[in-house]
Amino acid sequence: MNSPLFQRAVRVIPGGIPGHQSPVFTVPGQFPYFAKRAEGPFYWDEGGNRYIDFLCAYGPLVLGAGRPEVAAAVAAAEAGGICFNHPTEWTVRLAERLVEMVDIADWAFFGKNGADMTYWSIRVAREHTGRRKILRFLHAYHGTDPWCTDCSAGVVEGDRADILQAPWNDTAALNAIFDLHGHELAGIISTPFDHPNYADMTLPDPAFQRAIRRGLDACGGLWIYDDVRCGFRHHLGGTHRYFDCSPDLICYSKALANGYAIAACVGRESFRAAASKVFATGSFWNNPGPFAAALATIDLLEQESVIPGILRRGQEWVDGFLALGEKHGIEFRASGTPALPYIRVADDPGFFRQQAFCATAIKHGIFLHPHHNWFIGHAHSEAVLEESLARVEAAILDFQVEVACPA
Ligand SMILES: Cc1ncc(COP(=O)(O)O)c(C=O)c1O
Repeated sequence: MNSPLFQRAVRVIPGGIPGHQSPVFTVPGQFPYFAKRAEGPFYWDEGGNRYIDFLCAYGPLVLGAGRPEVAAAVAAAEAGGICFNHPTEWTVRLAERLVEMVDIADWAFFGKNGADMTYWSIRVAREHTGRRKILRFLHAYHGTDPWCTDCSAGVVEGDRADILQAPWNDTAALNAIFDLHGHELAGIISTPFDHPNYADMTLPDPAFQRAIRRGLDACGGLWIYDDVRCGFRHHLGGTHRYFDCSPDLICYSKALANGYAIAACVGRESFRAAASKVFATGSFWNNPGPFAAALATIDLLEQESVIPGILRRGQEWVDGFLALGEKHGIEFRASGTPALPYIRVADDPGFFRQQAFCATAIKHGIFLHPHHNWFIGHAHSEAVLEESLARVEAAILDFQVEVACPA
């Protein structure tokens, strides 16, 4: 794939495209580099190629790109200005809405990005308990701050000195940590399920979730639920309701405002005092537009019964995808949930066949990331999903030819 923009970008931007959108995380030369526009379930790259998008901007576009009602709400909220000396009523309205919707929420705090909230929430846990240690699960993504990034560049030992790690769903390892560190544990941060890159997704073992809650109740630490990626796709009241557990603080972002920049942390009454002491802010954190976007998004999620539809169509799509693999003799493995599925070529530990398959899918106009979970959204209608499965089938046939006749 030829990208004139990338050639310009590398001259003036370190790495050309920094972060997770860099081509090194897909397959350089095979996947799009820059986006031009997006509408509903589709997006167009810089060359004008159209894709059915199963990445949804890495999650935010739960309603699909460019919902006019959300844009109209933003325009109305910004009619009096976009950036002020103080918050506006929109901030209070969104906090009221979240407190109403989320069973464990007695208050809400806002930022711009998911990582603003994951880092802020561990500070709240530390402030509340007067302890330093935080347990996170191996390879879980909570942003790129030094306490949690898997990248070692620019990170010093002290940044992670109080971060403990344990394998996901390993109740014995978890209990061993409670035995050894319970007295100094401020909290545990977990995602609703394990959704690492370059691996299958693993849903939570109910016994593991119970062990987290029981251990924290015994030692006095907080359960921070990082619902940044899963939130607003599984249950309107929070993904903890889908997986039937009860955390103390919940971080949201991504789908909360269908692409507008906002993040939230909600929490129980007992942590309000600590939350009010942990100072964090940003120049743009209270701009009204994203708050209005969040309120409009939540209204649409509710009015159009978006989440049950996503879960139903997502499951049908995954089943259809696997059936196509079976029909044409390619074994695929599915993991995750119907809202955040991930399907990969089975028996492919290096992910090379998976990369080749997804690159073939790109040629057939569907954007499937080779190593990151996919997202199903409201704009993935029955018709769009049917079209995408026809494209998946064409990609499978093409892929078989490429595998049979390597260059
Ligand atoms: C589970 C999870 N937590 C936190 C983050 C960080 O969010 P952001 O990139 O908005 O800072 C992400 C982003 O992908 C995420 O998936």
